[in-house]
This record gives sequence, structure tokens and C-alpha cells, in this order.
Amino acid sequence: MDKLSTGILGATGAAGIEFVRSLINHPWFEIKELYASEKSTGKTLEQACALNITDVPDNIKKLIIKNTEDVNIGLDLICSALPSKQAKKLEPKCAKHTPVISTTSAYRYEDDVPIIMLEINGETHYELLKTQKNRGWKGWIAPGPNCTTVGLAMALQPIYKEIGIKEVIMTSYQSISGGGYPLITQWEKEKSKDLPYPLKLEEAILNPKPRLEGNVIGYIEEEEPKVKKEIKKILGNYENGKIKNAEFKIDCTCVRVPTLYGHFEPIFIKTKKECTIDEIKEIYKEFNNYCKKEFGNLPSSPKQTIIVLDRPPQPYYDANIGGGMSTIIGRIEKSSVFDIKLQALSNNTERGAAKGVVQVAEYLYKKGIL
Ligand SMILES: NC(=O)c1ccc[n+]([C@@H]2O[C@H](COP(=O)([O-])OP(=O)(O)OC[C@H]3O[C@@H](n4cnc5c(N)ncnc54)[C@H](OP(=O)(O)O)[C@@H]3O)[C@@H](O)[C@H]2O)c1
Repeated sequence: MDKLSTGILGATGAAGIEFVRSLINHPWFEIKELYASEKSTGKTLEQACALNITDVPDNIKKLIIKNTEDVNIGLDLICSALPSKQAKKLEPKCAKHTPVISTTSAYRYEDDVPIIMLEINGETHYELLKTQKNRGWKGWIAPGPNCTTVGLAMALQPIYKEIGIKEVIMTSYQSISGGGYPLITQWEKEKSKDLPYPLKLEEAILNPKPRLEGNVIGYIEEEEPKVKKEIKKILGNYENGKIKNAEFKIDCTCVRVPTLYGHFEPIFIKTKKECTIDEIKEIYKEFNNYCKKEFGNLPSSPKQTIIVLDRPPQPYYDANIGGGMSTIIGRIEKSSVFDIKLQALSNNTERGAAKGVVQVAEYLYKKGIL
């Protein structure tokens, strides 16, 4: 069988390199071309990538990075992991001739663009891709969600469907890799063997230089509005050719913490109907059975979509479970203010970016849309 020839835009970045890893030895897709910015053009992946890629096979490390101005129109599939501003210009140029799966937010909120999370809306939302033909494109753009929305969506959707949700409060503890390779290299430079003692200042600095090691930063640009907006689209129903957003109240705070991979999210939920902790666990079990039956045979699907633990999920131990595709949910408890509280953990570069949308491409390939 001929594999689909695949190009990766932004291949040298934190999300792009996970596209590379997700496609190595893939049964249906084959990496043909890698693209990044002008500063990487003409270098090999190994020379251009600032991240640790010792696990990547030599034949891929030696591929020469091309400029995104020269994307090959003969490719069968394009994976985009560009900064959103660049994706806004480049993804539609590519979609004119080739299907694009994307980790970026550039087209996520447009009416004819679904945010597909297979296990949640995969069976219906992909229909919207067909309406993108009206833009005069032969291909389409299928973006995945923001990496912070993923664990939240996985934790909420089975509960939303079975017992209903009125209100949600979430706080994310987001890893450094979520900010891309510049943040990872900044953190590497800041790390020292000494404990990072806080400074002894008399007065607060109004605009301190960003510091990652030994610190917590309670603001991530554009993150909170994105999460609040897209969670309702992802959990929405596909009706009469449109997505009708899910209805519940939600607020969140997004925080950067010095962990490398995995976004950790305590979530408080007010439900429509009363429920016990055992019922919630049973709902997740049924959801897992559904995921296994419908999507379990796709190459990137994990053995278990949701893994329930009685302890708090921990990024260091749990972020790569299920090939980085499982959502780990722990400490499901009754809340004295809301009804339920729990903690979710999801891998931001795999489920939350590249591998999550590769799984979508696998499904679309099986459906004959790709
Ligand atoms: N990191 C995550 O966990 C994550 C999760 C979900 C979604 N996303 C989304 O994925 C996208 C990439 O994020 P990232 O974290 O991987 O960022 P990143 O590590 O900074 O990588 C950015 C990539 O884009 C390339 N690039 C930058 N400016 C460019 C330009 N002007 N023209 C062409 N290529 C350019 C870079 O190439 P050079 O190496 O040449 O600079 C690099 O390959 C973003 O839209 C982000 O929101 C990221």
C-alpha cells in the first residue's frame, strides 16, 4: 500500500517534533517534507531543532528543512504546528490543494471549522469539513483544541452527556513545553543546582522579567478566553449543518509552572442531577468502552482513553501514559461548594497537539474523507 506523503509545518518546534514522532513508522502516513522558519531553512532537522531529538531515527534527523513559502502542492497531507499568525496566512494556501490537520488556533473558531476530538464529537463534527469546499478549497483545515482544553473536555464530556453540567471552575497548571521551544531553552538556562530562593525585594517590580525556575506565573496570554470559548464548541451538538454550542457556565485561571510536559487541572463541577462518586466512575468506565469500540483500532488511540486513579495525577509519572494519549483523572470527590471536584492531567504536546490530530487524520482516512 502506498502511504500518504506528509509534510510538517513548524517541524522544529515543540508541537512539530511530536508530529515527527507520531509519524515515524506510521502504517498509513509517511514523512516526506519538513518546513520551518527562514532561520532553519537549508539546515538538517538535527541542526535546526533546539530540542532533544536523540530518539528520532537518523534518516529523519538528516532531512533538510524547507521554507514554508515553498510548500509542495503534491503532498497528500499537511500537518501544521506553526505560530498562529503564520498559520493564518499559510494554512488556507495549503488547504486550496491539500487537507491540513493543525495544532494552531488560527481557524478554530470559524463557523465551518470543527474542533475535532474523536472520542467526544468525532462521529458528527467532521461533517463540517465538507462545507469548506464552499471556500473553493480541494482540501480542508481540521484543527485540534488548545492543549489546555483537552483534559478539561475529556473530564467533562461524559458527565455532561450523562447527568448534565450547570457550572465549571478550572485552574490549569501548565507545563513549560506548552510555551514552545523558546520557553524550554529559557528554562534550561535558568536551572541550577541551588534551590531557587525568592528574591529579597523591598518593593514589588511592576513588570518583572519572565522567570520560570522556582516560580509560578498566573497569566498565559490568550489562554483563558480560548479555553472558555472552545470547550462549548467541542461539547456542542452538530445540528442542521452547524455546531450548536454546549450550554453551561465556565470560568478558569491558566497558570505556567516549571514542569516539562503535561497540563494538570483541578476542576470543580456543578451537575444538573445529583450523582455519587461511584456513578461518575461508572460513567467514565462506559465512556472508555465506547472509545475502545469506536476508535480503539486507530494506530494512535490509547488502550484506555480515561484512566481513573485514587491519587492525584502527577505530570512526572503520568504524562506519557497511553503514549501520551490517555487522560488521567484522580481524586474524584464530593465538593462542599460545587457537586464534584476532580483533577485531570493530559499530555500537551501529544494528545494536546500533534498525536491528537494525527488520530483525527487516521479516522478521516478510514472514513474516506482524507
Ligand atoms: N506546545 C504545545 O504544547 C502546543 C499544544 C497545542 C497547540 N500548540 C500550537 O502549536 C503551534 C506551535 O507551537 P509550539 O509550542 O510548537 O511552538 P514552537 O516550539 O515555538 O515552534 C514553532 C515552529 O514554527 C516555526 N516558525 C516560527 N516562526 C515562523 C515563521 N515566521 N515562518 C515559518 N515557520 C515559523 C518554528 O521554526 P524555527 O525553529 O525555524 O524557529 C518552529 O518550527 C502554536 O500555534 C501553538 O499554539 C502548541
